[in-house]
Amino acid sequence: MALQIQLAPGDATSAAADVLIVSVCLGAVATHPAFVAADKAFGGALLEHVKAVEFEGKLDQVLELPTLGRLKAKKLVLLGVGKKEELDAARLRASLAAAVRNNSGANTRTLHLVLPEAEFELRNVGEAIALGAYRFTKYFTGERRPKAELAKVSVHLARGAASASDKRSLDLGVAIAEAVAITRDAVNEPPNVLTPEGLAQVARGIARKHKLKIKVLDKKGILAAGMNLHYAVGQGSENEPRFIHLSYVPKKKNKKIVFVGKGITFDSGGLCIKPAAGMGEMKSDMGGAGAVLGLIAAVATVKPDVEVHAIVAAAENMPDGAAYRPADVFTSLDGKTVEIVNTDAEGRLVLADALTYATRLKPDIIIDAATLTGAALVALGKTCSAFYATDDDVARALESAAREAGESFWRMPLLEELGEQLKSDVADLKHTADRWGGSISAALFLREFVGKSAWIHCDVAGPVLADRGKGMYPKGGTGHPVLTFLSFVEHAGRKTK
Ligand code: BES
Ligand code: MN
Ligand code: ZN
Repeated sequence: MALQIQLAPGDATSAAADVLIVSVCLGAVATHPAFVAADKAFGGALLEHVKAVEFEGKLDQVLELPTLGRLKAKKLVLLGVGKKEELDAARLRASLAAAVRNNSGANTRTLHLVLPEAEFELRNVGEAIALGAYRFTKYFTGERRPKAELAKVSVHLARGAASASDKRSLDLGVAIAEAVAITRDAVNEPPNVLTPEGLAQVARGIARKHKLKIKVLDKKGILAAGMNLHYAVGQGSENEPRFIHLSYVPKKKNKKIVFVGKGITFDSGGLCIKPAAGMGEMKSDMGGAGAVLGLIAAVATVKPDVEVHAIVAAAENMPDGAAYRPADVFTSLDGKTVEIVNTDAEGRLVLADALTYATRLKPDIIIDAATLTGAALVALGKTCSAFYATDDDVARALESAAREAGESFWRMPLLEELGEQLKSDVADLKHTADRWGGSISAALFLREFVGKSAWIHCDVAGPVLADRGKGMYPKGGTGHPVLTFLSFVEHAGRKTK
C-alpha cells in the first residue's frame, strides 16, 4: 500500500499512533505546545525526565520513551533539531528524514510528526518524510518480508492551522521524494535486472507518467548515429547498449540545460577486469544515469521555466570474445580518434559521445553526473562529489544548489598540465593518463567533447551508494545528486536571460 502523508489538524498528543515524534529547537523543549500537552498527560513527569537526562533539543539529540498508556501514541520520540537560527531547509530535511527512517521499523504503521516552532516551507517536510520512509524490500520473501509497513504519516504544525498552500507544498515535497526514489531504486536494483534495456524501461515509465518526449537508440541505432565509443564499450555484453534522451520543454523557458548520466549498469572492468573483492558495488556504476532520470521526473513535477534534457549513455562493461580491447582505436561522434588504454575506463568513453550529442542541442549549460573514478573517492571520501566547471558563475550556482539541497560537493581544478598525458602516438587522444590525479585527467578527457558549452562534470563515484544511513540518505542507493540538480534548475528558471 502506498504511504499516505497528510497534514493533520488538532492536537497530536491525543491522536492514536504507533509513534509520535515531536521535534523541538534547542532550548525550546519546555515551551513547545505539543511537549506541554504531553507533559500534562504525564502529570509533569516528562519535563522532570527531560531535565534529568539533559535533553535540550540539540541537533540530532533523540529521546525515546514508551508512553505506557499516558498518551494514545505507543511511543514518544523527542527529536532535537538544534538552534532555531541555524535550522535551514537542508538541516530540517536531514533531521526529519533520519527520524522517520529510524522510527518506521516493522511495527510502525502510523506515525504522527509534530514540527518544530520555526519558519520553513512544508515542501522540505514532505521530502523528508518520503525520503526517510524509503525502503528497498522487493526481493525479500517469507520471514524477511516486512510484516507491516508505514502506511500513514500525519504532520502537525507546532502552532496554528495549516493553509491550503501548506498542503500543496507538502504534497510537492512528497512527489519530489518519489522522483528521488526512482534514482535510489535504480541503484539498488541488481544488475541482472537493471540492464541497459532496464534503464530504458525506467525512462519510458517516466516519459509515460509525465508526458515527456523520449528517444531510445538500441545497439544498431547507436552505431548508425556514429557513437562508436559508446558502441565499443557495449560490444562485449549480451545486454546490449542503449542511448536514452528525455526532454522536458515548457512553454516559457529562461534557460536550456542538458544533463548527461553515465549508465554503466555493471562495470566488470571488461578485459582489464576488476578484482573480485568489491566488484558487486559496480552495479551502482549507473548512479549518474539514475540521477538524471530521477531529476527529470522531479523537474516534470515542479515544472520550472527551464528546458531540461536528460541523456543517458547505458551499456554493460563485460569481458567477452566481442569485447573492445586495449590498443583499439575508435572514432568518436565528433570525429576525434581515441586509442583505448584500459577497458576499465569505460565511463569517459560513453560520456564522450553523449556529451557531443548534448552540445548539438545548443544548451546554455551541460551538466554530467558519472561514477567516473576511484580517484575521486580517494580525494574526497565516499560522501562528497568532485565537480569540475569551465565557468566560475555556474560553479558558484552549483555550490549554492548543493548547499540548499544539503548535499556534499567540492570543486576540483582542471589542471592543464595533466592533459599532456592524453596525447596518443597512434590517434588524436589516449583515453587515460597515469593514476596520479586520475579524477582530473578523466575530466580533462571529457572536456575534449563539450566544445564551447558551459559545462559541469560531477564525479559522483562515492556518494551515490552509502555504507550506512545518515541524514536524508539511507544505506544503499542514496539519490545523490538529484536534489542538488533540481535546486540548480529551479534557480536557473527564476533568472531571466
Ligand atoms: N566505475 C569506475 C569508477 C569507480 C570506482 C566508481 C570505484 C565507484 C567506485 C570506473 O569505470 C573505473 O573503473 N575507473 C578506473 C579508471 C582507470 C582505469 C583509469 C579507476 O578509477 O580505477
Ligand atoms: Mn570502469
Ligand atoms: Zn565504471
